[in-house]
Amino acid sequence: MNHLVAPSILAADFANLQRDIEMINNSEADWIHVDIMDGMFVPNISFGFPVVSAVNKHATKPLDVHLMIVDPDRYLKNFKDAGASGITVHYEACPHLHRTIQYIKELGCRAGVALNPATPVALLKDIIRDLDMVLIMSVNPGFGGQKFIENTYKKVFDIKELSFKHNTDLFIEVDGGIDTENAPKLVIEGANVFVAGSSVFSAPDPIVAISSLKHAGVV
Ligand code: DX5
Ligand code: ZN
Repeated sequence: MNHLVAPSILAADFANLQRDIEMINNSEADWIHVDIMDGMFVPNISFGFPVVSAVNKHATKPLDVHLMIVDPDRYLKNFKDAGASGITVHYEACPHLHRTIQYIKELGCRAGVALNPATPVALLKDIIRDLDMVLIMSVNPGFGGQKFIENTYKKVFDIKELSFKHNTDLFIEVDGGIDTENAPKLVIEGANVFVAGSSVFSAPDPIVAISSLKHAGVV
């Protein structure tokens, strides 16, 4: 499978969100990454359901919703109704992760689990068969524009190894500080979905930046 690119609208111009969504629609992006922060699980607040619904009205690509919130079960249906195609919850925020994953699937969404940089991949061994996606955080969640953590390469390799044994269809997504320098190396380790905020939206031409990520490491 060729890897996917999911630009993160956290780095978009919120006063020109429709323009930025249309840019993504016209690009080689596969999904639109939507970051939800609650000021509790992470030390920042982003936006909520009305914004996700508004984005969904203009988006022609599936919404990949990343929930950085405590006890996400409370809001899964709201995010589904707002237009989420995939929902990713954090391992660290879900005391009953198996139940949460089943709930996301019952809603008809792609189910993902995100791991913070300090959370080992091995903790997913008994749930990996139930997952559609694992999101390896390559920065501490909460803010865009942070520096990529080098240990991510090893974690992507570890999850790829685990997926060979238990779930070969798994999406392996990486989020935080992704650019055209680290993406090709991550492809080699097994990553197949790239989230990118700053490297897309601060580029002189975001459409070109998305295209470069889409073709990074592909010969
Ligand atoms: C960070 C978010 C990311 C963020 C990535 O907590 O989960 O999706 O938008 O932004 P960059 O690409 O700027 O690191
Ligand atoms: Zn994210």
